[in-house]
Amino acid sequence: MLKTHNCGELRAEQAGQQVTLAGWVNRRRDHGNVVFMDLRDRFGITQVVFGPEAAADVQQVARQARPEYVLQITGEVRPRPEGLHNPDLATGDIEVVAQRAQVLNEAKTPPFYISEEPQVDETLRLRYRYLDLRRQRLQKNLILYHRVAKWIRDYMDEHQFLEIETPIMIKSTPEGARDYVVPSRIHPGKFYALPQSPQQLKQLLMVAGMERYFQLARCFRDEDLRADRQPEFTQLDIEMSFVGEEDVLGLIEGLLTRIVEQITTMKLLYRPFRRLTYQEAMERYGSDKPDLRFEMPLTDIGDLVAGSGFRVFAEAVAAGKRVKAICAQGCAEYTRRQLDELAAVVARFGAKGLATIAVREGELRSTLSKFMSAAELQAIIERLGAKAGDLVLIVADEAKVVTEALGRLRVEMAQRLGLLDDDVLAFACVQQFPLLEWSEEEGRWTAMHHPFTSARDEDWDLLESDPGKVRAKAYDVVCNGYEVGGGSIRIHRREHQERMFRALGISPEQAQSQFGHLLEAFEYGAPPHGGIALGMARLVMLLAKEPNIREVIAFPKSASATDIMTQAPSEISERQLKELHLKLDL
Ligand code: AMO
Ligand code: AMP
Repeated sequence: MLKTHNCGELRAEQAGQQVTLAGWVNRRRDHGNVVFMDLRDRFGITQVVFGPEAAADVQQVARQARPEYVLQITGEVRPRPEGLHNPDLATGDIEVVAQRAQVLNEAKTPPFYISEEPQVDETLRLRYRYLDLRRQRLQKNLILYHRVAKWIRDYMDEHQFLEIETPIMIKSTPEGARDYVVPSRIHPGKFYALPQSPQQLKQLLMVAGMERYFQLARCFRDEDLRADRQPEFTQLDIEMSFVGEEDVLGLIEGLLTRIVEQITTMKLLYRPFRRLTYQEAMERYGSDKPDLRFEMPLTDIGDLVAGSGFRVFAEAVAAGKRVKAICAQGCAEYTRRQLDELAAVVARFGAKGLATIAVREGELRSTLSKFMSAAELQAIIERLGAKAGDLVLIVADEAKVVTEALGRLRVEMAQRLGLLDDDVLAFACVQQFPLLEWSEEEGRWTAMHHPFTSARDEDWDLLESDPGKVRAKAYDVVCNGYEVGGGSIRIHRREHQERMFRALGISPEQAQSQFGHLLEAFEYGAPPHGGIALGMARLVMLLAKEPNIREVIAFPKSASATDIMTQAPSEISERQLKELHLKLDL
């Protein structure tokens, strides 16, 4: 080793020892006859002193070195003088007096400061990701990611799971996104698809009798990106045989609880995790991944306004639409401008207006006063439990618009009210998702989770008669407004799987050519099975209190799915195209 110690480990006890450190120049302060240099490596920062007594070549290194130069320093550990201790630094009680120094490598002036945290443009950070990764924030995040992965492996091993790799070049495994494909050179005109998840393979491992499988699995999905989505990402992928929903969720709850308790100081708000049905989540919180760090429920007031003088509301109820409200505590004094901002929030979801009632001491101030009696307004206030100082916000529209608009507004108000403490983790399991959802675009029913998910036993009979009513044995694990994981109990009989494909409008021929291997496997004694997958980066993002999964991934893609550093995707040569039997049609 070119070092005897790392830059984070020297303490007062080592005073008097001769040590060798190697690392990057974090900061350099030139006081004329003395130069102080902070030397940095992954483990920390140690202050090195170049005094007037140092040899000429050592002083030369001190003068020459610039931020991000790589140095090797040999010197003596010495306690810092009284009053010069740095309590912010683990090594803040000592410094190393340089006796020998060598420049191991020079560095150009970096495009941004490594040692400080200014707002650096993300494109620049991604272009120079290897420099960005030198920064403490990202180092901490990658270390956390590693530790989470290690705890997962230990926990799964303790629970008799086997980590089994599955191929990346395979046949299409749909999860509702587009596939990334790889052309085959050996088989002209044919393509592998990258897995959107190992879904079918893990089910086949259950048919193979593995009983308990897991994998930190890479998944690939060509879909629109968001703050919590990457085109390639890692799942903790799990499948178990002979289990019901509670077995899978119990295992995950145990795992997440252990991780949070062992490697963070964060607070688990619900222990055991809160349980709610999809129906409840949508009705009460306006989202299938509700942020449950706070309540502020969506409350139906349709019955209270059905006969009112406000035509918009009365007509909405008559037309089978919804009228719902939330109560934002302490917001009664919101200004015209603030209320306009809130109206703009709901407008993004198609809401045609936002009615408000500000509850003040002895007075109600409302956009509805012209149309509704004081008693009618009072009834709304009471339904919402609003007190003096509170603001009631109302939207009337189609169920979907009301749900999305108020669901978003609920989070907006929580943000404004400072209710979103990122030290708190509100884990919950959302259950009883619908099996199918209608796709306007495709004009057919599509699988809400994926086509291998089982209907609830009592709902199978509705599959042909009333497909939208069928509930699935599907569940999500949500936390603080994010979907951290999702899974289901699977179909394990051929006839059920064929029935499901039929409901999805997949012809027997299509089913055979796309999923024949799975249908066939189900005829050889497939055990009842189910599983789940957690998004690793989403979990670590929450644990790291980061707003974006890119902050916990070493080399993420940009928002437009490009790798800014390597410039992928990029053209390939004529020769490669020819070998792959491809012609471009641009
Ligand atoms: P699902 O599609 O719900 O289920 O994915 C499981 C979890 O993976 C994470 N995730 C993502 N993370 C980052 N970027 C993305 N683009 C992305 N897409 C999904 C989320 C999500 O909850 N095979 C099923 C699981 C099963 O049924 O067992 C599946 O993949 O955290
Ligand atoms: P108007 O008669 O259009 O001026 O509307 C009176 C009040 O009702 C305004 O505060 C509007 O924002 C509100 N409003 C109108 N349509 C809706 C709606 N669909 N849901 C909730 N509030 C509405």
